[in-house]
Amino acid sequence: MSFNTELTRKLGIRIPVVQGGMMWVGYAEMAAAVSNAGGLGILTALTQPTPEDLRKEIRRTKQMTKYPFGVNITLLPAINPPDYKAYAQVVLDEGIRIVETAGNSPGPVIKMLKAASPPCIVLHKCTTIKHAQSAVKLGVDFLSIDGFECAGHVGEHDITNFILLSRARQSLKVPFIASGGFADGQGLAAALSLGAEGINMGTRFMATIEAPIHNNIKKAIVDAQETDTQLVLRRWKNTSRLFKNKVTEDAYKIEVESKTGDFSEIQPYVSGARGRQVFLNGDKDFGVWTAGQVIGLIHDIPTCDELLSRIEKEAVETLSKANSLIGPKSKL
Ligand SMILES: Cc1cc2nc3c(=O)[nH]c(=O)nc-3n(C[C@H](O)[C@H](O)[C@H](O)COP(=O)(O)O)c2cc1C
Repeated sequence: MSFNTELTRKLGIRIPVVQGGMMWVGYAEMAAAVSNAGGLGILTALTQPTPEDLRKEIRRTKQMTKYPFGVNITLLPAINPPDYKAYAQVVLDEGIRIVETAGNSPGPVIKMLKAASPPCIVLHKCTTIKHAQSAVKLGVDFLSIDGFECAGHVGEHDITNFILLSRARQSLKVPFIASGGFADGQGLAAALSLGAEGINMGTRFMATIEAPIHNNIKKAIVDAQETDTQLVLRRWKNTSRLFKNKVTEDAYKIEVESKTGDFSEIQPYVSGARGRQVFLNGDKDFGVWTAGQVIGLIHDIPTCDELLSRIEKEAVETLSKANSLIGPKSKL
């Protein structure tokens, strides 16, 4: 048996599972492993310092897989923003036609991706129905609906996927995938039942053999509970879900206690540069790093192939079991 959803058909993949963009994780090794396993692997553009480095990374990925893969372009507010259009141009020049966009004001980049010949398939990730509807107007092909459980930018409304996915089903005219809190086939079956065409996972893919991060961090994820994440930066309307450690606790204390509310007080604690080092040196307390509540559901470090085969099998079994619960009309 194999899956046949709008996502598998449109992207040309076997299993309706996408590996979402991940800063300092979404390199060629990660994306190729997921695509080789039947899902959609995604490179994260901004892990590459320049558009030309992204070109090299795309070419490296092509040598590692013959299956489709995508590129994530995340647009974050910055004093000196990266040249997003130059990254997008490299994506197009290299013949990539699947892009995950996320973040603020994605309009100009989405317009450029959709104007290409042939146009890109754009999956736009967002945490509110309002933002999803704006993205629909921009012509995106799929929404990736990120519930409050998710790793990273959770938004400011704290709506978990049980509500958010059904809202998406009720109100969006474009197909969507479910993101945040997924790790197994039971989750995939639930997402499909709620109307999604597949799922997007981040944290679960960090704890795989091929994830290009230090083994200590994979073990920290396996050892963690669902209560081991922390929300920071709400005060600045940029709430992020991070792995709870000494640094997030110190950062949170400053956030709550600062009399000035000056971002510069917390900035050294939430520095991305220190977070990047965590994945290289394996010290989970060295800086802040992103993880979702789903850490409580992750108990092993399989290959991507083992993980996706297991998810496929569990989802098929779960959906068959659900089907078997319906019998002829009872006389009761
Ligand atoms: C380490 C890490 C880094 C991430 N970086 C990005 C990013 O740069 N851009 C983005 O759109 N999403 C990013 N995400 C979010 C994921 O793409 C995905 O939406 C999220 O992990 C889904 O929630 P889950 O972790 O519960 O599966 C990141 C997630 C993780 C775990």
